[in-house]
Amino acid sequence: MLEQSPQQIAERHLWIHDSPRSDLYERGMFRTFVQGDGCWLTDSNGERFFDWCSSMWQAPLGHGREDIPAAFAAQARKVASAGPICFTTEGALELAERIARLAPGDLNRTLLTSSGSEATEAALKLARQYHRLRGDHHRYKFVSRYGSYHGTGMGGTSVSGRRRRDQYYYPMLPGCVHIPPPNGQNDLEAAEALRNIIEMEGPETIAAFFGEPVAITQFAIPGPAYWQRVRQICDEYGVLLIADETLFGCCRSGRFWGIENWDVVPDIMIVAKSLAAGYAPIAAMVVRDELYQAFPDSAPSPIVQSYGGHGAAAAAGAKALEIYERDNMPAVAEAKGRQLEAKLAFARKHPAVKDLRRVGLWLAIELANPETGESMARGLMGKWTIGPEVSRQLLALNCAAARMSEGLFHIAPPLIVSETEMDFIAEQVQTMLDRMGQVIPGLLAAEKKR
Ligand SMILES: Cc1ncc(COP(=O)(O)O)c(C=O)c1O
Repeated sequence: MLEQSPQQIAERHLWIHDSPRSDLYERGMFRTFVQGDGCWLTDSNGERFFDWCSSMWQAPLGHGREDIPAAFAAQARKVASAGPICFTTEGALELAERIARLAPGDLNRTLLTSSGSEATEAALKLARQYHRLRGDHHRYKFVSRYGSYHGTGMGGTSVSGRRRRDQYYYPMLPGCVHIPPPNGQNDLEAAEALRNIIEMEGPETIAAFFGEPVAITQFAIPGPAYWQRVRQICDEYGVLLIADETLFGCCRSGRFWGIENWDVVPDIMIVAKSLAAGYAPIAAMVVRDELYQAFPDSAPSPIVQSYGGHGAAAAAGAKALEIYERDNMPAVAEAKGRQLEAKLAFARKHPAVKDLRRVGLWLAIELANPETGESMARGLMGKWTIGPEVSRQLLALNCAAARMSEGLFHIAPPLIVSETEMDFIAEQVQTMLDRMGQVIPGLLAAEKKR
């Protein structure tokens, strides 16, 4: 039993990630969740909240399950963790075997970490190391896209495209260059930007291209040509293609992996968040065997991490993959995504809406200033005014979602969402759009005065 209230303890001792204290404690957004059940979370006051974006895209199979914790506990009781050097556990073996079977193309070798950020650091180090081991000593640069996010490490922060936000950490890792992301209408031009930057920087200096299938900041969905052309350019110049599947991997996109929607096989894939469906911190860097085979006995592995491949967390991951496969969750995500899109068709006509886009069971409403029709998806400019307001307004409707991209209203419920819950979502979207339509002009005016 806690002697102080959750909020008192948090205010004194807990540093909650990336949330302004004014939001948490003055505007009353702080919550301690004490119970989860399917798509719902109950806080310490007994109030229930709908898990609007699957706990930051971690919990596609919902809360309060028995099967995944049982797999975790079974492995933990036998041997929780064997340390990652020299030894392993049955849980880690089962997870690696399942990933190899499910991964796109010939990707079949997994290095386990505890988070997407660490898997990203591993991929960046691997890319440089791979080229050096092959005698290509000058390939140290990374190309990625403005507006992307690739984790919180110094390498991940450097390849992420959020320069205004990252100014506190300068100087960034040398050798990280950025190109604009596709905007949904300029696929070939956006892909050719990769070729241009490779040519301008010097092809012999580029190690890898790093990208999410669809970047969350704009949620601009490329057509069939973008990723195909990016793959072709990477092959032409000997540049490794790294797909960051942290948000899209594990069925969300309607395919097992997001990049499969574009029929492209990357050289390296980052898998995180949903890998154990939110029940354990486990993530992976998955590569083609050729990359692994390039490592002689004398070369260290790209990372060594005490909890990289923690046995019980890996067993939870293996169980989650078993469920995704058994229940054909990619098809479920696609079918429910279509159904929800149909229920939200009214949104397209709302004056506060510019567009509604969908990939699998992830929908994003691009908000507009109802007075001018101007898009509020200004994330690439480093603005962040409308995004926090969406989360605040949602919480007031008993829907929990941390952090929205600027001007985008993301809707990504657990894949187990029911038809009744989809109707509930549609009702909340109607209320939200009416409210956002009213507050957007005022928020923009206040932004100008700041
Ligand atoms: C696309 C992407 N890559 C990497 C990461 C980092 O993953 P983690 O938070 O598990 O370190 C995130 C986290 O949100 C992400 O969205």
